[in-house]
Amino acid sequence: MPISFSEKNKTFHLDTEHTSCVMQIGPSGELRHLYYGASIASGDDLSSFARRRDRAFSPYPESLTANESLNIANLEISSFGSGDFHNTAIRLQKQNGSSVTSTVYSSHTIRKGKAPLPGLPASFAPEKQCETLEVVMKDSFSDVRIVLRYSVFENSDVIARSVTIVNPGPEPVRIEKLMSAQLDFESSEYDMVYLQGKWARERHAVRVPVHPGMQGFRSARGSTGHQYNPGIVLASRSASERTGEVFGMLLLYSGSYAVEVESDEYQALRAMIGINDETFCWRLEPGAEFHSPETLLVFSENGLGGLSRQYHSFLMEHVIRSPWKHVRRPILVNNWEATYFEFDDRKIYELARSAASLGIEMLVLDDGWFGKRNDDRSSLGDWFVNTRKLGNLGKLVEKINRLGMKFGLWFEPEMISEDSDLYRKHPEWVLSVPGKRRSLGRSQMVLDMSRKEVVDYLFETIAGILHSANIEYIKWDMNRNLTEIYSASLPAEQQGEVAHRYVLGVYELHERLLNEFPNLLIEGCSGGGGRFDAGMLYYVPQIWCSDDTDALERIPIQLGTSLFYPSSTMGAHVSVCPNHQTHRTVSFRLRGDVALAGTFGYELDITALGEDEQKQIREQIGRYHQFNDLIREGNFYRVTENFGLDDVSAWCWVSADRKEVLMTAVRSSDSPCAQSPVVRLRIPGLDPGLIYRMQDRPFAMHGSTLMNAGINASEDLRGNAVSVLYHLKAE
Ligand code: GLA
Repeated sequence: MPISFSEKNKTFHLDTEHTSCVMQIGPSGELRHLYYGASIASGDDLSSFARRRDRAFSPYPESLTANESLNIANLEISSFGSGDFHNTAIRLQKQNGSSVTSTVYSSHTIRKGKAPLPGLPASFAPEKQCETLEVVMKDSFSDVRIVLRYSVFENSDVIARSVTIVNPGPEPVRIEKLMSAQLDFESSEYDMVYLQGKWARERHAVRVPVHPGMQGFRSARGSTGHQYNPGIVLASRSASERTGEVFGMLLLYSGSYAVEVESDEYQALRAMIGINDETFCWRLEPGAEFHSPETLLVFSENGLGGLSRQYHSFLMEHVIRSPWKHVRRPILVNNWEATYFEFDDRKIYELARSAASLGIEMLVLDDGWFGKRNDDRSSLGDWFVNTRKLGNLGKLVEKINRLGMKFGLWFEPEMISEDSDLYRKHPEWVLSVPGKRRSLGRSQMVLDMSRKEVVDYLFETIAGILHSANIEYIKWDMNRNLTEIYSASLPAEQQGEVAHRYVLGVYELHERLLNEFPNLLIEGCSGGGGRFDAGMLYYVPQIWCSDDTDALERIPIQLGTSLFYPSSTMGAHVSVCPNHQTHRTVSFRLRGDVALAGTFGYELDITALGEDEQKQIREQIGRYHQFNDLIREGNFYRVTENFGLDDVSAWCWVSADRKEVLMTAVRSSDSPCAQSPVVRLRIPGLDPGLIYRMQDRPFAMHGSTLMNAGINASEDLRGNAVSVLYHLKAE
């Protein structure tokens, strides 16, 4: 049994494939955290870890002793105002105005399977492949029940954790704060590894030591944002890509979130992740329930790479639902950087025709096909074809289909332009405080997705377009953050709910569209990669990584993204040079080799290419077809440390049977005093006993040699902005 309860020690023991997590019902009913790490036997008594030394100034529950103070305990859920003075995970305000909360064990169940989280993305598995523990806690200051839910899965080292609050009545309570997961550690000897970025520079990995005091990061943007990603890794100081103990927390949520890390005066450490309480407050009526987003917890003793691979395979098997996840995606050409708003049906058809002749498989028509939109100042919300520009969309799509190409279309469902028929009809559908100052972003406003009628309108108009033509893909964009978060449809006491209800509305629209069009391939996007999160991946199998398509800039973006997310989720294209974002020119070969690491496509004017580039596109497409199965399904390794931030970076995919490897190595810049005269690439993940043969040169070596001594790539990586692919197969 992966989950067991010892009546004698009052201990829960959870086992994943290689890890264990142990918790215990403490003397005042609190749920104490005893252990999380590499697998240990169940049944052994770890109670001694629950007790710490008496500390001055640590109040304790009456009838107990100072040793039992909650302030010096490692807890599974910490409550506000009842003796734990750190950042706490739950704060419930009662009708008497008090926010004092205390969670006390009431009952538990262990059962096969895992129930969905109503309205929210959540991991899933066939009933016999997972088991769920529900620990029901009771708030000592109200009748509210707090249900802590933990699921473990066969062949995986992930624990899925969420919290549900149930109000049996008789009075409403206000949820002022609710974190989805908490990890307490006795020591602060860890580094925090997380992803920071900005527009066109998303998800660069950052590694900093935990320091005394509060730290962390968050989004208050109403979506995940370009700036940080909703996940954190706590890595032992010596952990590298391949070795060392690391703990991860990844949130399945696409709204404002917070990661709170605190190293206290005794160097004990607490890390929590969940909805950002700055923009959240929820009135829970008698009889109602509230579900927190889910967190995926991972422990690995195989370093950051081991942790990443746990997340990759789990997201693929248990989070991404799309029927496309294990399928080679159509190679697309997107017209955005080719035309921006300057196009008509003839230009789009010409693009499609040239693309088809090179082996490209889908034309994606980006922004500007609807309403009267010829720049970014109008028409969002008017999801009706601009027939003056495009004629009959159905006919255009038919013509493109006749070329053997699929057709895809851009939408930005959550937005509205002031200059739109929709705004003229429904000004009250905008998120804003009525009659007061409001903010614009890219000249646009945000629809109030908490309103059912807004979601209905969007579903009907988008479904109408999708039914009108053979549209097999949509790019779902979101180009500004939320401000003046206020809904004209909710009473004063529920305004704190709007930001979360917005996210629920976005999820509902996804859900309804996928029910109607189950095979629709959706690519997420938000001004590039401003909403790249595991919540979105529940609905969409791929997300545009960044508006920065410069191949060298893409390396730290894609390798940073790989901390949590698999290659098959990363939208990556070859674009024109000089690059539109960086004005840099690099070889077509390098652009192709970097884009190969995600979903593959083109973002340039195919009709304007010379013969040499056309030839290279054919070759790149050949490589995509040759390697995409390995890239999509293989195990991903960052071969070099430092997430692509050094001059030389390499990464590889290894097939499940360890018999095939594709490694990409890139040197961004060279100099006589480069990092090291020898570029030694040690290829991880191989079978040490097998002999691997390079596919396009006379070279063979044992797996053990390739893994430990490595290959010398110095000659292949001479110069600036050069790349090389190494394809190896075991004999
Ligand atoms: C965002 C996207 C781009 C493009 C434009 C269209 O910036 O990231 O790829 O779709 O919007 O307006």
